[in-house]
Amino acid sequence: RIAYVNGRYLLHGDAAVHVEDRGFQFADGVYEVVTIVDGKPADADGHLTRLSRSLKELSIPWPVKPATLRFIMGEMVRRNRARHALLYIQITRGAAPRDFKFPKNPAPTLVLTCRRTAFQPASTLENGVAVITMPDIRWLRRDIKSTSLLPQVLGKQKAAEAGAFEGWMVDDNGFVTEGCSSNAWIVTGDGILVTRQPSNEILNGITRLSILDCARDLGIRFEERAFSVAEAYTAREAFISSASTFALPVTRIDGKTIGDGRPGPLCLRLRQAYMDHIG
Ligand code: PDD
Repeated sequence: RIAYVNGRYLLHGDAAVHVEDRGFQFADGVYEVVTIVDGKPADADGHLTRLSRSLKELSIPWPVKPATLRFIMGEMVRRNRARHALLYIQITRGAAPRDFKFPKNPAPTLVLTCRRTAFQPASTLENGVAVITMPDIRWLRRDIKSTSLLPQVLGKQKAAEAGAFEGWMVDDNGFVTEGCSSNAWIVTGDGILVTRQPSNEILNGITRLSILDCARDLGIRFEERAFSVAEAYTAREAFISSASTFALPVTRIDGKTIGDGRPGPLCLRLRQAYMDHIG
């Protein structure tokens, strides 16, 4: 396996950053996860656009030109002989003597790693996954894809210990914000697709945006609005979306069966449409 660190392609085991990298000390950095399908990055434009926005919001300069990053992404796919893989891209404000304020001459760190993956096994798609709900204890700039992920680390661990695949985080009013590493969706009894509107309270998923495009193309009615945990319990369908899971059916929330307990037809249709879109 090959990793990329600041201009160099290295053996994965030899790749390292400085101990005073601000990503390490302050989580002062941003990231993207791009899925490689058949050797091709899925939704690369969307991910690079969001990366650019995250950097801008935090005043972290681009370490290389976006076009160069695109080239490095291609090199990572080639050098790792990746067919189906997850490409991880991280940019931090760089290494500097520890001080909360921005360094005077920032030299941002760029790291890419690539991990081969098998996509969801057929059994997961046949049965759907379970989620549990939990309070959303994050900061209020969740629109920035920052590497500050402790709430999600704790949330995913709690979900795993409960035998669930994902945690759905819930705001103070009882409305689902999103999953620990995915966006949350339901289909109402009237067959309307619902997912929370983009704001500072969620990460606007690139997969989410593409699935909404697919819904538009298929003439599926949708609403971008918050839904409560109570509404989710009685939904006809539920699912999550992310670069690594695409649209993945949810069949249990907090141990309660959703719909008839089978992956929902609308979710599976959108999953197929999404696969065609990136294929
Ligand atoms: N997570 N919401 C959160 C909090 C996320 O961390 C993610 C992605 C998403 C979905 O975004 P996208 O569709 O662009 O992947 C929503 C990635 C996959 C991760 O951290 O591994």
